[in-house]
Amino acid sequence: SVPPLTDRFGRRITYLRLSVTDRCNLRCRYCLGPDARFVPRAHLLTTAEIAQLARAFVACGVTKIRLTGGEPLLRTDIVALVHALAALPGLAETVVTTNGVRLVPLADALRKAGVRRLNISLDSLRPERFRHLTGRGDLAAVLRGIDAARAAGFERIKLNTVILGGQNDDEIPDLVAFAVANGLNLSFIEEMPIGRVDRKARTTYYPNERIREELTHHYPLIATTETTGGPARYFRIPGTETRVGFVSPHSHNFCGDCNRVRVTADGQFVPCLGRAGTLDLRRILRETPGDTDRLHDAIRAAVDHKPAAHDLDWLHPLVRPMSQTGG
Ligand code: GTP
Ligand code: 5AD
Ligand code: SF4
Repeated sequence: SVPPLTDRFGRRITYLRLSVTDRCNLRCRYCLGPDARFVPRAHLLTTAEIAQLARAFVACGVTKIRLTGGEPLLRTDIVALVHALAALPGLAETVVTTNGVRLVPLADALRKAGVRRLNISLDSLRPERFRHLTGRGDLAAVLRGIDAARAAGFERIKLNTVILGGQNDDEIPDLVAFAVANGLNLSFIEEMPIGRVDRKARTTYYPNERIREELTHHYPLIATTETTGGPARYFRIPGTETRVGFVSPHSHNFCGDCNRVRVTADGQFVPCLGRAGTLDLRRILRETPGDTDRLHDAIRAAVDHKPAAHDLDWLHPLVRPMSQTGG
């Protein structure tokens, strides 16, 4: 059998985040913004290429794959892709992160194709504000999408929320109340200097510690050691199903036990979300199709060079947008 996929700091890599498209039907202010640019369509990986990559990573030791974007549900082959991945022996979990806009038609098919857990982005419960923060989003459609996901019987649904100072920081208890009322988990993600960041945007950075502090005035939060295999630290709200998570890359660095790598929508291997370095797997896939040994060697060598930690910095935002790496 294969040796585990390990980097030079001894971190076991078991989790691949695969962006399947950089296209999106929203324009979140901290992500794509109004002047979104996309990679040429011909650079996006095909269904067969994504399946081949997934197979290669699983053969190297990955046990969990998250499909992200952009908006993954914009791919017309998304259900087929999930189906192909879920059938891979050795892959314990196929999970999806979505903005929820297309869940009404797709939630049921995704569940049936093998997705057990779903993460849905939700930054506001106020229609006008939601439209403003997402550039164009229809809150009612996303709420219907969340209902469709609940009805489809996913084992766990998690909301992802980015709080921006002065924009939606007055909704922290409301968002948690919504999660509690609907039996969902909710993770607060600190805004990161990635993508086409407006230099002024760094003034909206809102530390998770402040959110946690504010929440204690509304809910008792009990720390847990539970994990979903990602970077979030979870708290329980007694008497509810809800776990409140905090992903705090700035205020609580979690790089030391990172278990993840990424592949962008155009087939670039990204060993660390918060670093510029990449390796061109698309070239390998297209130059030598079917050469699994070359692919495996490239993956192992690239993992070996995973950096110790991110170097995210508001003064020097990473130019590669989040829509390509899928967060
Ligand atoms: P589960 O634990 O399976 O629910 O997955 P997750 O929390 O990793 O997935 P999700 O898509 O909900 O990710 C939440 C956010 O955490 C991502 O969108 C990223 O913004 C952030 N994140 C995940 N991994 C990393 C990482 O390695 N570094 C940094 N800086 N942020 C990360
Ligand atoms: N900082 C933090 N989170 C971000 N996301 C997108 N861009 C950023 C950013 N600059 C989040 C989205 C979504 C997840 C996949 O990534 O809100 O929930
Ligand atoms: Fe689209 Fe997600 Fe980026 Fe919002 S955060 S623009 S939903 S890819």
